Amino acid sequence: MTTATVTDTVRLDLGARSYDILVGDGVLAQAGAKIAAITKGKAPIVVTDENVARLHLPTLERTLREAGIEPTQAIILPAGEKTKDFAHFERLMDAILERGIERSAVLVALGGGVIGDITGFAAASALRGIDFVQVPTTLLSQVDSSVGGKTGINSRHGKNLIGAFHQPRLVIADTATLDTLPKREVLAGYAEVVKYGLIRLPNFFAWLEQNGARVVEGDSDARRYAVTMSCRAKADIVGADERESGDRALLNLGHTFGHALEAATGFGQKLLHGEGVAIGMVLAFDLSVRLGLCPAEDAAKARAHLASVGLPVKPTDVPGVAWDVDELIASMAKDKKVKDGRITFVLARGIGQAFTMRDVDPAAVRDLLEEAVAT
Ligand code: NAD
Ligand code: GLY
Repeated sequence: MTTATVTDTVRLDLGARSYDILVGDGVLAQAGAKIAAITKGKAPIVVTDENVARLHLPTLERTLREAGIEPTQAIILPAGEKTKDFAHFERLMDAILERGIERSAVLVALGGGVIGDITGFAAASALRGIDFVQVPTTLLSQVDSSVGGKTGINSRHGKNLIGAFHQPRLVIADTATLDTLPKREVLAGYAEVVKYGLIRLPNFFAWLEQNGARVVEGDSDARRYAVTMSCRAKADIVGADERESGDRALLNLGHTFGHALEAATGFGQKLLHGEGVAIGMVLAFDLSVRLGLCPAEDAAKARAHLASVGLPVKPTDVPGVAWDVDELIASMAKDKKVKDGRITFVLARGIGQAFTMRDVDPAAVRDLLEEAVAT
């Protein structure tokens, strides 16, 4: 007999394109019927990467069989950010189209943000748009990338520059899959959890100060609560501003600095995305203090909490990098979020009080970075 899993359901409200995000420890093993309802009893095309295929594909296939669906052979891509390129996108599209799909075909993205992003873009592109389900297996993808419909790939001109808004039909976030995730990847995802507290949920941030270590160490209830709260926060923001013409930009807290740091380190293992976001959020709070907008105690609290779980909080926490401030500033100026040549910064008036600002004094940014790379 299988024990019922405690499952939280978060609804992302987008009219006819609304969908549920199911969060629970073990929810994937019981999700076959939910997926079958979307595929109308037919086999979905599962896309995953080599690591996740080994660890979690058998659970997905078992639950599909239990729901009366005989799974077809999954498409297995190499793991890692390099997979989000044109060559792999072409390979993926070929593998999908080779199956002679119809408009009713459904893709299932089983994996982290890389698999979610490229599969979502394939779903947006195949036959001008077919349905897909997100089954995120990293903390980052459970709390951020699987929710909200941003899909895409990288190009030689930059990250995520080619893509589409295409919402999934369902998200299944099984926190038990995080048991196999390397600790460094868990921490990188945790930075995005903290982000929601820093943007607009001061009580959640206070809860994380008390319980963050339990989330990172894999306590089942703490992990479910943290993922559910994060998905709820993201669903609220995306539900109100799907195309990022307003508040969705707040989700970029720490990302302008973070992307520049990631670019300088080659978007690889030297600095993971979430680690760049952690340092970037601390820089955003420090900039807010410098501009007289935020109490120094709040910036100190944000920094202290991120550091307490083991995340890097300053560029010099990243070993073996000779930071170049001119390069960081040039990279920030190329960010997707630049409008009319001006960088939009997400700043804060305190914990849980983020806002955007476009006329930040460039000298203040330079001074901040000069100091940050020297300490
Ligand atoms: P990832 O998909 O590369 O996964 C990280 C590593 O963990 C990979 O090696 C993967 O094979 C492995 N892995 C995944 N699940 C595992 C598990 N349960 N156990 C063991 N290993 C596992 O990286 P990520 O951090 O999940 O996602 C990063 C990507 O997400 C970036 O490309 C970024 O641009 C994108 N992103 C997109 C959005 C969005 O809104 N679409 C938001 C944030 C980030
Ligand atoms: N990751 C930011 C967003 O989805 O808007």
